[in-house]
Amino acid sequence: MALTAISLLYDHSGQQEQIPIKVTVTNKFANTKVSYPTAVTVGMPMFGVLNKLKDTNNSFTFTYSINKCFGIYLESVNGLAGSTENHTYWELLFPQSFAGIGCYQPKKNENFIMNFTTWD
Ligand SMILES: *[C@@H]1O[C@H](CO)[C@@H](O)[C@H](O)[C@H]1NC(C)=O
Ligand SMILES: *[C@@H]1O[C@H](CO)[C@@H](O)[C@H](O)[C@H]1NC(C)=O
Ligand SMILES: *[C@@H]1O[C@H](CO)[C@@H](O)[C@H](O)[C@H]1NC(C)=O
Repeated sequence: MALTAISLLYDHSGQQEQIPIKVTVTNKFANTKVSYPTAVTVGMPMFGVLNKLKDTNNSFTFTYSINKCFGIYLESVNGLAGSTENHTYWELLFPQSFAGIGCYQPKKNENFIMNFTTWD
């Protein structure tokens, strides 16, 4: 049983399977939209994907804080932070169900959108 589970994660060459996905950063106030195509290991949560992207592409960066109850909270993307004063935040558009970046595992060819937006 354990062997079956492992063989799903590794391809025939013994490498961990990589799948293409895209991370898109949009901000309609600044009229910007940048997509970062990347390849990720199957099963890697979004948090790991974002860290890997940050390490491999110096035009992408993000900061976060850890909330004791709610987990990882995204604070800023590419130098721009949400603010309570301006009622702005980074809306995360998960391709499937709502999930946190700490546990969402992207599937092949998914586009993960980070959208700078406002609340009323
Ligand atoms: C970083 O991402 C941008 C936007 O997708 C792309 O134009 C650029 O080539 C990437 N740089 C590297 C080093 O991959
Ligand atoms: C609020 O928005 C203004 C105008 O876009 C900006 O100059 C200011 O830095 C923002 N405040 C914060 C705390 O982000
Ligand atoms: C991003 O947020 C703006 C509002 O600020 C909204 O109009 C737009 O539909 C959002 N983009 C996506 C892809 O949901």
